[in-house]
Amino acid sequence: MLDFTGKVAFVTGAGSVGEGWGNGKATAVLLARRGAMVCGLDLDAGALQATTDILQQEGLAQNWLAIPCDMLDSAAVERAVAACLARFGRIDVLVNNVGGSAPGDPVSMPEEVWQQQLDLNLTSAFLGCKHVLPVMARQFDDTGKGGAIVNIGSVGSMTFQLGGRVSAGYAASKAGLVAFGRSTAIAYVQRGIRVNTVIPGSMHTPLVEHRLVKQLGTVDAAALIAKRHAAVPMGFMGDAWDVAHAVAFLASDEARYITATQLVVDGGMTAARTA
Ligand SMILES: NC(=O)c1ccc[n+]([C@@H]2O[C@H](COP(=O)([O-])OP(=O)(O)OC[C@H]3O[C@@H](n4cnc5c(N)ncnc54)[C@H](O)[C@@H]3O)[C@@H](O)[C@H]2O)c1
Repeated sequence: MLDFTGKVAFVTGAGSVGEGWGNGKATAVLLARRGAMVCGLDLDAGALQATTDILQQEGLAQNWLAIPCDMLDSAAVERAVAACLARFGRIDVLVNNVGGSAPGDPVSMPEEVWQQQLDLNLTSAFLGCKHVLPVMARQFDDTGKGGAIVNIGSVGSMTFQLGGRVSAGYAASKAGLVAFGRSTAIAYVQRGIRVNTVIPGSMHTPLVEHRLVKQLGTVDAAALIAKRHAAVPMGFMGDAWDVAHAVAFLASDEARYITATQLVVDGGMTAARTA
């Protein structure tokens, strides 16, 4: 079940903004533990090194290629794909995980922040697909096996975030990611490539302590975390492993009939709260 032996995965944002487990880091490590060869990309070489250290400690260094790469630089992404092919020969799974939120509505948000949000959350996935889809399509022509793409969205595209905080650029770009995924899925449905989106809810990743506390101007991180736990119908935030397991399922052969759809991983949050 969910065995990735013989498969090669390309995971973007495979580091984490702080100590602990971000969604891309957990996904990269989970796929390697399940037998995949994994290319992990991150803008932050130090964050990527932390993932490398974990895989080395677990005896999985031979399953891993770390590639420092800015997912907004098309030529760099193209080089990363070439490096992955040179080392592992194919790409079966693409996880477009790079993303993050900035607060603001159309008036309070500077235009450059709006553009940065679209780039970080949407263009990063576009460039991942742009350079990996031809590889998967060639594999399909040669062997009948294409690949699976999983994008990481957010419930921020479906409901107000905690405390009614507005992040218009994040909401728009993550909603766009769902539309992008569905459209790409249909474009490649006959080339053996599936495209789906995992939509995490309020997850307890290092991002909460490192970014949200600052963004919200909160001094009491523990109070913010307690509030985030309480806002989830299950009573607690999920973590990066909950996202990673959903990604692994959608990327696996067991999900062979699932494409152009979304898997919400939010402890019931969107059902309980409407925008
Ligand atoms: N943490 C949550 O509560 C939550 C909720 C919903 C959705 N998400 C989504 O999950 C994804 C990952 O979130 P996380 O909490 O693990 O974040 P994170 O910031 O810990 O990890 C993301 C990684 O991406 C890297 N990165 C940023 N810009 C990059 C670029 N241009 N090129 C390459 N790498 C880049 C960062 O260096 C970082 O290591 C994001 O798309 C985020 O929007 C997170």
